[in-house]
Amino acid sequence: MSEERPEKRVSFTIRKVAEDELDQVIEINEHSLPEHYWYGFYKYILDEWGDVFLVAEVNNKIVGYIMNRIEETSDKVLMGLENELENQTKPHEGGPLDRLRRIFDVERATVGHVVSIAVLEGYRRMGIGSALLREAIGLMLNHYDVNSIYLEVRVSNNPAIRLYEKFGFVKARIIRGYYRDGEDAYVMVKRIKPITSGGQA
Ligand SMILES: CC(C)(COP(=O)(O)OP(=O)(O)OC[C@H]1O[C@@H](n2cnc3c(N)ncnc32)[C@H](O)[C@@H]1OP(=O)(O)O)[C@@H](O)C(=O)NCCC(=O)NCCS
Repeated sequence: MSEERPEKRVSFTIRKVAEDELDQVIEINEHSLPEHYWYGFYKYILDEWGDVFLVAEVNNKIVGYIMNRIEETSDKVLMGLENELENQTKPHEGGPLDRLRRIFDVERATVGHVVSIAVLEGYRRMGIGSALLREAIGLMLNHYDVNSIYLEVRVSNNPAIRLYEKFGFVKARIIRGYYRDGEDAYVMVKRIKPITSGGQA
């Protein structure tokens, strides 16, 4: 089966979003995804984690964004220490991750959460989504020292799942009926670095 892959390439820049560009981000979101947020939510993310809220620009036009949040969690799946989907096939085995958890007794960790990413149709499949994700991962690591990064994605969203897998995210959990229309979500997690006692690397 052949895939549609545009030949054209554009030059683009990735940079932090400015407050007066939030309207353009919202427009891209509304054209690209069924999950919409109110203005105050974008503003909150900008105020709290504006250094990892990025846009892609082509000829002075915003064509893509990635919006992230930094969280503290005690959820081992989000830390990348457990994989519920793998555990389903070998439920009674104490795997290496179980052993690691027992040894270090990790309680909490700082994790990055990709809240939303989208590229305008017409600018997709040119590497812009990858560039946004790559830059965001680097910044979350450098600025916040995250141990892992996670996100939710519709189980049917193959383009996004392939993008995330390319960056080393693995499917770690299913949340049934996560989306308003009832579709399930995969939680995908990328381990950044080992976690040791006290949640510090
Ligand atoms: C997911 C999305 C952000 C990817 O952006 P993009 O700029 O097209 O991504 P890239 O060009 O960097 O593609 C990177 C890889 O993702 C995968 N991919 C992207 N689009 C794909 C498609 N239509 N079919 C299959 N794989 C695809 C490929 O592995 C691709 O690498 P390749 O081109 O070398 O094969 C974009 O498709 C989008 O905005 N979709 C709508 C919004 C959305 O679903 N967001 C994710 C919500 S969780």
